This record gives sequence, structure tokens and C-alpha cells, in this order.
Amino acid sequence: MKKIDINILGLGNLGTAFFEGLQSNNNLNLHLYEENDQIRTDFSKSYGVEVASHIDSLDSGVLILCIKPQSINTFFDSFSKNISTDILICSPVAGLEIETIHKYVENRIIRIMPNLLIRKNNGFIPYVKNYDGDYLSFLEIALSSLGTTKEFVEKFFPLVTAISGSGPAWYYELSRQLTNSATQLGMDEVDAEELVKELIKALPNLINTEDSFGELVNKVKSPKGTTEAGLDSLNDDSFDTIIFNAIQKSTNRSIEISAELKNE
Ligand SMILES: NC(=O)c1ccc[n+]([C@@H]2O[C@H](COP(=O)([O-])OP(=O)(O)OC[C@H]3O[C@@H](n4cnc5c(N)ncnc54)[C@H](OP(=O)(O)O)[C@@H]3O)[C@@H](O)[C@H]2O)c1
Repeated sequence: MKKIDINILGLGNLGTAFFEGLQSNNNLNLHLYEENDQIRTDFSKSYGVEVASHIDSLDSGVLILCIKPQSINTFFDSFSKNISTDILICSPVAGLEIETIHKYVENRIIRIMPNLLIRKNNGFIPYVKNYDGDYLSFLEIALSSLGTTKEFVEKFFPLVTAISGSGPAWYYELSRQLTNSATQLGMDEVDAEELVKELIKALPNLINTEDSFGELVNKVKSPKGTTEAGLDSLNDDSFDTIIFNAIQKSTNRSIEISAELKNE
């Protein structure tokens, strides 16, 4: 089978996660681009691979845009003429709609919203695409090797971004507040962090069941017990409203970014 050329543009957090997740996939040829000199040098040294500063021309394969939304306009203005229409464009860029990419290029486009677990081939990758079938077998050969893929309609992408893309931050913040509570109640910070990190490590084994989250909560609490006392306090302090507001604000910000990118 002919190998697929995968071009990763931008080697920040997500571009590096793509590289780490795909580097041992024998069906792919990886090509890397990063305009920041220091990152390029450090990356080449760490991974022993060549990294170019920019794209000269692309004739076949896939281009994965791992750059910030604010870099998109400049990139397409400078480089769209160097990208053949046969190239599949894969965009994880938050807020960037397929329609907006189409203003710059005619290509087939797949929009995705992965999380950083793709680094360990254990990510979740929501996607939407503007073409039929599995062009270049990208879904089957590349994306599926990075984790679980699932198609969503594009109108849900702002919500998918808020829940899944930003999702790790919600859990990190909750963990930070659990740690803070333990230290405020007298525990040493190192011990508190260890307690919370060990808890997080245990969770995947505990949620790997058919139970809903409500049922899982019920399994931890017992009538008039310690968990119920804490849950009642969360309820009294409107935990549901706090979370709903955060997800709504994050979703709205995603919609705002889409509008800004569309009007650039
Ligand atoms: N991080 C996540 O968990 C995550 C999850 C889902 C989606 N995303 C999306 O993925 C994209 C990348 O996020 P990130 O966190 O990886 O950002 P990041 O850490 O800032 O990485 C972007 C890198 O791309 C470089 N770059 C910018 N324009 C370039 C160009 N034309 N050619 C080559 N390199 C270029 C940047 O260099 P300079 O700094 O010099 O500009 C930077 O090193 C964003 O659009 C974000 O919405 C991220």
C-alpha cells in the first residue's frame, strides 16, 4: 500500500501530540513545519527528525493545520497558492468553520476537535467533513490510529469544543480546587496533590461501565454519609448553574471566534 503523506503545520501542543501519536504508524510519511526557530531546533533535537520552516508546495496527502486561529488568515493568504486541490485539509482549529476555509481553498476539508490524548493513541476525535467516503483512507489509517472517531453535525462543534476540546481544563481546575481545599484544611500541598492525582488515576477503571454518571454518583454515596454531605453542599451552592454557565460561556466564545474568522 502507498504511504499517505501527512503534513503537520505547527509543532506546538497539538502538533506535537499529532506527531507523537502518528510517528510509529508505518502507513504514513510525516512532514513537519514550524516557523518558530527555537521550537524547530528543539523539536529536531528531541525527536531526531527534520522540520521545515514553511511549506514550499504540497501536491498530495493531508495537511493538518495545528496553528492558532489568529494565524489562519496569514497562512492561507501566503500559502494557499502552494497547496494543490488534491490535498485533504484537516483542521482542528477552534472555531474555524469549513465554510470559512472554503473562502481560501476549494479542497476537501475535514474539521476535527481532538483532545491531547491523541498523543497516546487514546484520544477522542469528533469530526465533520465536506466530502463523501474516506478520501485517502485518512479516517481509517491515520485518525482512527489516534483514538476513537465520531461524526457530529457542524452546528454542534462549539459545544463539542466546550465539552471535549476544553474538557481537560475543567477537570484540572476541579482538581486544583480539591487540592486547595485539602491544604486549607491543614494538609501539606505535596500530599494533597498526590491524593488528587491518585484519585484521577483510579477514575478510568471506575467509569469503564455501562452506568450513567448519576448511577455512578449513587454508587459512591450512602444515605446520611460523607459523600452525601458534600453533594448536598454542592447542590446548595448551585454547582449545576456554575457548570452550565461555564459551558455556555465557552460555547458562546467559540461561536464568536467563528464569526470573527468568517469576517476576517
Ligand atoms: N492544545 C489543544 O489541546 C487543542 C485541542 C483542540 C484543538 N486545538 C487547536 O489546535 C491549534 C493549535 O493549538 P496549540 O495549542 O498546539 O497552539 P500552539 O502551542 O500555539 O502551537 C502553534 C504553533 O504553530 C506555529 N505556527 C503558527 N503559524 C505557522 C505557520 N504558518 N507555519 C508554521 N508554523 C506556524 C506557532 O509558532 P508561533 O508561536 O511563532 O506563532 C506555534 O509554535 C489551535 O488552532 C487550537 O484551536 C488545540
